[in-house]
Amino acid sequence: MAISSAGLFLFFALLLGHGVIELNASHHVYQHLQSTDKSSSSSTKNQPYRTGYHFQPPKNWMNGPMIYKGIYHLFYQWNPKGAVWGNIVWAHSTSTDLVNWTPHKPGISPSQPSDINGAWSGSATLLPNGEPGILYTGINPQNQQVQNLAVPKNPRDPYLLEWVKSPQNPLMAPNPQNQINASSFRDPTTAWLGPDKRWRVIVGSKINREGLAILYRSRDFVHWTKAKHPLHSAKGTGMWECPDFFPVSVKGANGVDTSFLGAGVKFVLKVSLDDTKHDYYSIGTYNRGKDVYTPDDAFVGIEPGLRYDYGKFYASKTFFDSSTNRRILWGWINESSSVADDLKKGWSGVQADVEVTFEVPNFGKAEVLDPSWTDPQLLCSQKGAAVKGSLGPFGLLVLASKDMQEHTSVFFRIFKSQKQNKHVVLFCSDQSRSSLNEANDKTTYGTFVDVDPVQEKLSLRSLIDHSIVESFAGGGKGCITARVYPTLAINGGARLYAFNNGTEAVKITRLSAWTMKRARIN
Ligand SMILES: *[C@@H]1O[C@H](CO)[C@@H](O)[C@H](O)[C@H]1NC(C)=O
Ligand SMILES: *[C@@H]1O[C@H](CO)[C@@H](O)[C@H](O)[C@H]1NC(C)=O
Ligand SMILES: *[C@@H]1O[C@H](CO)[C@@H](O)[C@H](O)[C@H]1NC(C)=O
Repeated sequence: MAISSAGLFLFFALLLGHGVIELNASHHVYQHLQSTDKSSSSSTKNQPYRTGYHFQPPKNWMNGPMIYKGIYHLFYQWNPKGAVWGNIVWAHSTSTDLVNWTPHKPGISPSQPSDINGAWSGSATLLPNGEPGILYTGINPQNQQVQNLAVPKNPRDPYLLEWVKSPQNPLMAPNPQNQINASSFRDPTTAWLGPDKRWRVIVGSKINREGLAILYRSRDFVHWTKAKHPLHSAKGTGMWECPDFFPVSVKGANGVDTSFLGAGVKFVLKVSLDDTKHDYYSIGTYNRGKDVYTPDDAFVGIEPGLRYDYGKFYASKTFFDSSTNRRILWGWINESSSVADDLKKGWSGVQADVEVTFEVPNFGKAEVLDPSWTDPQLLCSQKGAAVKGSLGPFGLLVLASKDMQEHTSVFFRIFKSQKQNKHVVLFCSDQSRSSLNEANDKTTYGTFVDVDPVQEKLSLRSLIDHSIVESFAGGGKGCITARVYPTLAINGGARLYAFNNGTEAVKITRLSAWTMKRARIN
């Protein structure tokens, strides 16, 4: 990430020099967030909420991210002809650092009967010859969802500017025999190779209210046969969009290629629920002989399921980055507002990366967790930042206006669970006072974080990027992304505070912050 050592950083460095800071139950003003980018182009000047270092395409969904010959590729759904849904293409950008992006002409546009009404989401797979193949959903003249293949015209071009479609498209289609719902059959995953040298891919679907990951197999990546049973399904979850299925190491932090066949892995199945617009995942076991996935705990997609992010985050996709041995996750942070009327000329916005670590000296007065408080998001909205407690609320107030009329609070509360005989950490992002503009969605988000605050310090990191506040608790064990549209807390009017609104003292043992440069995005 682009880091500049502006005044903000120096100020916090001074504070750190004094060692531990005691934070009592009142507001402490640490620093004003200054605007950093005076040179923003006229195209961004009048878009106060346009992000500076989060990739912001003109529109929506992500498709098949990958790395090829050292170049990162990001495709996304885009309609070059305006508001009509029918013309969706795969827009294309490339990057060498995942921060700065260069646009290219669309990679895949409607041209065949099998995608003439739109080229929808899909995924890239690296084939054994080292070249990528893209499986994607096309909308045919009958408005049915079918799956197609495209391959690079010139695989020697690391930018992969030209794509050719298989003359055999569609490769997978609903028909009277296979009981596939032609309106609910989309978003093929990255395919993986089995020990029998056959490819597998799953496609999101549903039958009535049962969500399905329909499984197909192929020897040549062109001829695909539907398996008798889905890889996994769950009743009552509705349509599964953008499924993702990949191995993760049981030990160590490295990512694993999707076709990895060795031992020491478990599997993640993620689905995006069309009904609730949330991404859920589960960790489980994949029986390669039977081609069946069995989650360890709850069914995928059923509350209280696991989520990558407990705020605004949908239609995510991963890819394996072989250059760094990481699996990289992309998600879509939806707008919460269509209103962009309160534009300020000369806006350059607030971009920052803040990390703070808290230590709780005394747990004696922790509030007792009522056994009925099982929904963390509900608990966070009932006990927002303004509701005083004993151990918390404490955390950060970001994008705060001078008079505190506007602020977004990202904070912890610690409870004592008598049932579990331990302390429980609640992590919240409270947007209820984020903007004076009442037209915005100000939902408060929350999750419990699997950290024992008696044994470990509590870390909180917030990435602030104009209208995005992306927060990580416990080193990423809990993530909440929020979309906020302040009207006063912009430019020099935006401030950052650390706060403690609980009766008990909390120590800040570490605090650092950076301003961020604007990335070059398209
Ligand atoms: C097929 O999908 C469409 C679109 O979601 C839905 O309206 C219809 O009820 C589905 N049919 C069945 C049998 O699930
Ligand atoms: C996008 O945001 C709006 C307003 O907050 C919400 O109603 C909608 O469900 C969101 N869509 C997705 C896909 O997250
Ligand atoms: C702290 O509590 C007081 C009293 O309830 C409230 O007025 C104030 O807004 C709270 N602070 C935050 C950051 O919510």
